Amino acid sequence: MATDVGTIPRIDARGPNPLRAGLDSNRISEPCNIVLFGASGDLTKRMLVPALYNLRLGGILPTQYGIVGFARSPASDDEFRGQMKSAVDQFSRSGPAKEPLWQDFENRLSYVAGDLEDVKGFRRLKERLDRNDEELGTAGNRLYYLSTPPSVFAKIVEQLAAAGLGPKDQQRGWSRIIIEKPFGTSLDSARALQNVVMKVFEEKQVYRIDHYLGKEPVQDIVALRFANLMFEPIWNRRYIDCVQITAAETVGVEARGGYYEGAGALRDMIQNHVINLLALVAMEPPISPSADHIRDEKFKVLSALRPLSHDDVSRSTARGQYGPGLIDGKPVPGYRDEESVDPQSVTETYASVKLFIDNWRWADVPFYVRSGKRLARKHSEIAVRFRSIPHRIFGEAGDQIESNTLVMKIQPEEGVSIRFNAKVPGPKMHIRGVTMDFNYGTGFGVVSAPAYERLIGDAMRGDATLFTRWDAVEQA
Ligand code: BG6
Repeated sequence: MATDVGTIPRIDARGPNPLRAGLDSNRISEPCNIVLFGASGDLTKRMLVPALYNLRLGGILPTQYGIVGFARSPASDDEFRGQMKSAVDQFSRSGPAKEPLWQDFENRLSYVAGDLEDVKGFRRLKERLDRNDEELGTAGNRLYYLSTPPSVFAKIVEQLAAAGLGPKDQQRGWSRIIIEKPFGTSLDSARALQNVVMKVFEEKQVYRIDHYLGKEPVQDIVALRFANLMFEPIWNRRYIDCVQITAAETVGVEARGGYYEGAGALRDMIQNHVINLLALVAMEPPISPSADHIRDEKFKVLSALRPLSHDDVSRSTARGQYGPGLIDGKPVPGYRDEESVDPQSVTETYASVKLFIDNWRWADVPFYVRSGKRLARKHSEIAVRFRSIPHRIFGEAGDQIESNTLVMKIQPEEGVSIRFNAKVPGPKMHIRGVTMDFNYGTGFGVVSAPAYERLIGDAMRGDATLFTRWDAVEQA
């Protein structure tokens, strides 16, 4: 009999929904320890621990697991458990922590305090992991998650090796490492980090996370393109006028000014999330949905992206920065007044770029990509606009004919809409644009799992499809 640990709320559309039949079976991962570096940080509290808790709730986390937080600030296991309970209460999509599941979850949480410069903390971590293997049945498997500032990624990898925590030192089980973005801030720094990582891990053990790839509508791009016949024949320069990719946010930089100053919209959003969307839209059909086949095709798109010359930068890009203003009548600061931001900062909080992919399919089709903070509404989508009809037969009645547009809506709405032209009912021939919408929530009657849940679950199962391979990072 199922224990009453609560369930994740589902949108239950009116009455039985035939699209629900045969929906997702749980894919349980193997026993393992998950080590969260940066355990006192925002990502751990807002995203990672709530995601792990919901994976447990959804039956995806195995019953034998351990979660070990690692950070500099001293705290006992109990204090860490208390902090994580508040995090789940506040940020979990399934609402506050529920008994008896929480009790079980809490018993598997522990904390190791350590300075990244001092290998002793890593040795204590090793003792804890060995103990978890004995007591919690975690079978020697380890998933390290680096959710620290990028400047210490290399240090952590080196210390793992120094403390005998690298995969080469393992007697049994597997080790994988999830690395947050940005993976370096320039080609040279990315290569230097890669060199350090490759001394300790093999490429197939490295999971470079881009949480956009875990979003359900982003994964649907592949399904839409390659599970349907009708799009592929027109998915090229003959029929497509332009592609527009937008990732707009209403939030400002919040407390992340220190990091954002060195990143800006180009490194924070465009170079990774947005370029990944572009690659999925533009890639050739992969021969299978396997991690390497999809990543091979994405890599080819990145290789065909036309580099911007000096002149292109002024012609084909725009950058901006948000100033002070009002949101819902309340004043909000401008970027230069945000915490840890230089009052003279020229870091961009908005960027748009016109890109071209130099290959047979896309030659001369502009890809307009844009992203910014503190914009009027949160809104991410990919709009594919088709060319105009070659010949107008309707005279004045066709004055309002629009180009067809296919929109893949990523957030907050998740779905697909198609804009086409139809005759307005009535005795006269009068034509106007109309929209046909598909929405995942009401269509399938489920709420999509947040990206972090999907991606952590995949890394635990060893499925790297939605993570970025080194060659793509280097090329991007
Ligand atoms: C992160 C960026 O990767 O993505 C943030 O660092 C940004 O600056 C966030 O706010 C946006 O993610 P989402 O899922 O809210 O669109």
